[in-house]
Amino acid sequence: MSAGTHLGLSVDQVLSTTRAVRRRLDLDRPVDRELLQECVELALQAPNGSNAQNWHFVLVDNPETKAGLADVYGRAYDELAGPAVAEYDRREPRHRRLSAINRSADYLRANLHRVPAMLVPCQTPRPAEENATVIQQAGYWSSLLPAIWSFMLAARERGLGTTWTTLHLVYERDAADVLGLPFELVAQGPLIPIAFTLGTEFKPAYRLPIEDVLHWNTW
Ligand SMILES: Cc1cc2nc3c(=O)[nH]c(=O)nc-3n(C[C@H](O)[C@H](O)[C@H](O)COP(=O)(O)O)c2cc1C
Repeated sequence: MSAGTHLGLSVDQVLSTTRAVRRRLDLDRPVDRELLQECVELALQAPNGSNAQNWHFVLVDNPETKAGLADVYGRAYDELAGPAVAEYDRREPRHRRLSAINRSADYLRANLHRVPAMLVPCQTPRPAEENATVIQQAGYWSSLLPAIWSFMLAARERGLGTTWTTLHLVYERDAADVLGLPFELVAQGPLIPIAFTLGTEFKPAYRLPIEDVLHWNTW
């Protein structure tokens, strides 16, 4: 039994219209805990190495904790995201949307503390920090990231918008303190703001054409 409304989107619609939602987050409409729990329930079906399920999902809906995380994120954003803006190339199609993305990201930075809920997915133990091989890195993060995307897709079908953000990890230790989690034992993944969307219509976004990125049999 679902805790809320479903949009009735097809799988293909969900996969092609789950956008990074920032300016269209409804900051004034509360999100029921059960609805978020339902999305986590679906996320738990994601693939993960050896089915070890070393994952944890921290949902945040209390104002002080949200403010604490927003503060950590904002500090990193102001230091890193601002300076990066100047460096884009107008001839590069992937960069054409960048100024819109940056405006949207500025909005999220300014309003992050107001979102009804946030998700910080975590994994134990922490990954090998020094000289981790690609297989170690891929194995580690591949055991968490599919579940996070499942959460975001499930949220979209329920009228919720999300954005994948990672800047708070610049100050991961401070975020761990805000969340009261043991930094030495637990690694955080992205910080995902969650809210109902203002309107439910979203479109497929610009991506490089398939010819540029698809390879059959050999590179
Ligand atoms: C690894 C990663 C890190 C990201 N970090 C941030 C971030 O810190 N802040 C933010 O507003 N968006 C962040 N994003 C969202 C991207 O800007 C967004 O996914 C991209 O622009 C595509 O958006 P679209 O699917 O709506 O076209 C991140 C996405 C990924 C996958």
